[in-house]
Amino acid sequence: MTVQHDHKGAKSAGENPQGTLSVTDDRTGETYELPVADGTVRAADLNKIKAEEIGLASYDPGLVYTATCRSAITFLDGDAGHLAHRGYPIEELAAQATFIEVAHLLLNGELPKAADLKAWERAVATGGTADEHLHKLVASFPRDAHPMSIMLSAMGALPAVYPELAQAPADGEPDPRPARLIALGSTIAAMAYRHGLGEAPVAPDTELSFPGNFMSMMWKKDGQPYEVDPRVEKALDVLWILHADHEQNCSTNAVRSVGSSGVDPCSAVAAGVAALYGPLHGGANEAVLNMLREIGDVSNVAEFMTHVKNGERRLMGFGHRVYKNYDPRATIIKKYAMDVLDIADGSPLLDIALELEKIALDDDYFVQRRLYPNVDFYSGLIYQALGIPSKMFTVMFAVPRVSGWVAQWMESAADPEQKIVRPRQIYTGAPTRTYIPAQRRD
Ligand code: ACO
Repeated sequence: MTVQHDHKGAKSAGENPQGTLSVTDDRTGETYELPVADGTVRAADLNKIKAEEIGLASYDPGLVYTATCRSAITFLDGDAGHLAHRGYPIEELAAQATFIEVAHLLLNGELPKAADLKAWERAVATGGTADEHLHKLVASFPRDAHPMSIMLSAMGALPAVYPELAQAPADGEPDPRPARLIALGSTIAAMAYRHGLGEAPVAPDTELSFPGNFMSMMWKKDGQPYEVDPRVEKALDVLWILHADHEQNCSTNAVRSVGSSGVDPCSAVAAGVAALYGPLHGGANEAVLNMLREIGDVSNVAEFMTHVKNGERRLMGFGHRVYKNYDPRATIIKKYAMDVLDIADGSPLLDIALELEKIALDDDYFVQRRLYPNVDFYSGLIYQALGIPSKMFTVMFAVPRVSGWVAQWMESAADPEQKIVRPRQIYTGAPTRTYIPAQRRD
């Protein structure tokens, strides 16, 4: 029997047919031919293979082997260690572009022309003013609250504070929400930081660059002008280019999944913030610093590695679901770690990190599992050198990632093939049974 695409499994625009997969179902003796396109078979076609009433489904915890969307935003080849946004290699973007240009590229598909760049920069620069509700919300948190908790709550509160952010623009009108969300993300991050210090928020300075304004909102002293250190501004800009988007990772999948319910982009981005908070994802940069502090000295590295290889510990900042080669972002970040740490007179933890990396890259355990440093291995060291506390590291990741999340949300919302996300499960619980009142339960 040949499985035909019905209207639900319809071939989508841009699908590249590569032939068919012949499958014989030993339960029934039936043979099926499943169309193969873009290295995938459609789960809907798999579902047409039936022994009884119920068709086959695929079981894939962690969605390791499952494509959930078509995307034109980011390309990633994990074996080659290659990453590109809209076709531009990350190395070229990091060396030549600004974060604001890259955000435009992710959202609109193209780098902005000179006049468009000015308008886009202006839209972001003027979009980040926080109103009194946001001030009160941030102020209501305990002083020692984790800033990711504050960011998560504040992003989720945005549709209530600014109802226009929940509204799609009228047909043909430009959408002001991406610029507002990127700008407000950076304002909220800086407010969370100052709240932890017991200091009042600083209003955005619309004349500064995106990272320059963030630095001003973080570090400006009351009543004093703020002078942006261009080396720190550049280092932040490069770090943010590297963190702007990364294909279908855990937090992006959360944004797309929550967005599939039709909710507003702020709520979908709040889901991304929540996912990023985890130590296996964006929380790894904070975990790396904690790990380096715990190791304490280069002489303790070998013993720590023994615990890792015994499966008692994880080497945080190492390994990646997709990269089975050096994460290209880690290569760029390592260079910046050296430059920035040089500005800041070195870091006692850098020697430990370099020793860990040296041992790991030579060790069979890591070589066989193809574990290399990821983007988070060195980023925390840079942030630490810039005077940013480790609790803020994941927030520093979230600030630029808002651009990628919004770009992915927009692409998903415009994709006619997408539906509300609702996976299957394999039920392993009790069979149907009868309720017994409490007095009669033994
Ligand atoms: N340290 C030690 N062993 C590791 C590590 C690590 N960091 N990462 C993976 N392994 C081992 C696993 O124990 C497993 O070994 P086994 O085959 O003997 O059981 C093998 O390598 C495969 O690991 P998985 O956990 O199956 O790989 P997965 O793709 O599910 O996980 C992840 C990827 C979560 C990134 C993992 O490598 C990890 O936990 N790394 C540390 C946390 C981290 O740095 N996260 C940031 C990722 S980048 C980002 O999100 C921005």
